[in-house]
Amino acid sequence: MQNEKNHYNPSMSRFGQYLIDTFQFSSDESEEIMYAMKEPIGKSIRINTRKIALTDFKIHAKKQGWILTDTDIPEVFLIDRDDTTIALGNTIEHMAGWFYIQEVAAAHPPFLLHSEVQKKNPIHHGIIIDMCAAPGGKTTQLADYFADSLIIANEVNRTRTPQLFDNLDRMGYDNIAVVSCDGRFFQNFPDFFDAVLLDAPCSGEGTAFRDSSVIDHWNEKNIHRIAKLQKQLIETAETIVKPAWMISYSTCTLNTIENEEVIDSRLQQENTGLKEIFRKRFWPHIEHTGWFFASIFQKKKTENIHHEYPILAAQGQKNLIVTPATKWERETVERFISKHLKTKLKDGFLYLTKDGVYFNQKNLGPLADYFYFVHAGARIGTMKKNIFTPMNHLFWCVEDTSSIIPLEVTSEMWNEILARKSVKTTSQDGYYSLTYCGRNIGIGEVRKGEFLWI
Ligand SMILES: C[S@@+](CC[C@H](N)C(=O)[O-])C[C@H]1O[C@@H](n2cnc3c(N)ncnc32)[C@H](O)[C@@H]1O
Repeated sequence: MQNEKNHYNPSMSRFGQYLIDTFQFSSDESEEIMYAMKEPIGKSIRINTRKIALTDFKIHAKKQGWILTDTDIPEVFLIDRDDTTIALGNTIEHMAGWFYIQEVAAAHPPFLLHSEVQKKNPIHHGIIIDMCAAPGGKTTQLADYFADSLIIANEVNRTRTPQLFDNLDRMGYDNIAVVSCDGRFFQNFPDFFDAVLLDAPCSGEGTAFRDSSVIDHWNEKNIHRIAKLQKQLIETAETIVKPAWMISYSTCTLNTIENEEVIDSRLQQENTGLKEIFRKRFWPHIEHTGWFFASIFQKKKTENIHHEYPILAAQGQKNLIVTPATKWERETVERFISKHLKTKLKDGFLYLTKDGVYFNQKNLGPLADYFYFVHAGARIGTMKKNIFTPMNHLFWCVEDTSSIIPLEVTSEMWNEILARKSVKTTSQDGYYSLTYCGRNIGIGEVRKGEFLWI
């Protein structure tokens, strides 16, 4: 162990020296932190309370032999499993969207934002933006907490949107819509949003437990470059949140340049409109989490100014953009639901992209002049050549599921599906309401004697 520790001798790293200089740590403390930063941390999960109640999940976990340990966030648990033959991300519970694998520290910004908002100014039917969304941990958490509001998830990097889409499709929230632009673009919408979550792009020192090269290639010049962008993004956040409403700013990095300095430079501006109400650092050697920084602000009250927002013409990849379902497309989906599931779509709105049919409880129409959505909530299927093909999540978007024939998916079946995508069954062809250990996990299909996960 001593030898291993020596490997992290701070005298050998610019980052270690930075720790000593900035936080006045002794070289021993600095070494302890550097060591803790690179140590693996316990796995933790956040439960999707729209799909399974916390008490039910706890009962289920116990039966599976999973040990859950509470954290300070009620929906977030540390998880310990004896049998890890199937990776947590491949378990049926994960694929069915019952939980999201999320670090405890990283779950704090939405949790704190929601708690502070509830105390001061509860949001009902508001519009909340997650300015930097992929892969979607915080977006889906916001969707859970602010269940009757619309969450606009923005991810500028198109190589990261597929991961965001996968997570949204798995979790299935029907109050999210995705846009893809530089966060600074939103500067065009002063006083527009009821809350803003800014989980800023950062140098990622706090993720060294996953990728230690972050520390090995640490470079202060790079950090100042990122901090410049962070300052612009927080200025945007201040502009776009409504007076008296709240912003969360967070990073998974520890240096003060990307945290305190970014925030303080905003707070110290003569014309600042922000009041800080909360600030916390998560230290890896104390909390045994990744390194994390979270703060919450409230925008000061001002006279309500009426803004005219610019109507922005659709740019670029028009073929990716969400369009509202036509009357005919909606009828096609409704016909399918009535014929195969003997029920109706819930109250809500349908949208299409070339890759999917989406259900959203919100009407995105009035926002479509401003924002070009590329994903519109709960993905319930696809529409190709005028034929609707359902996906697992459709189950959660219909009114009454009692008339859909149930089919229990066993662990053995799941193992087969993981290996071969389908499994032989004697059930008749058709669509089924799937259950696992007696609890709903969506719809599935039996075709030509094979059960398919759709
Ligand atoms: C820390 S990650 C977000 C993690 C996410 N909030 C979550 O909880 O899963 C920061 C994101 O900011 C994005 N980003 C980088 N530059 C940006 C910019 N100028 N405007 C908006 N987002 C940006 C990155 O692509 C990255 O996906």
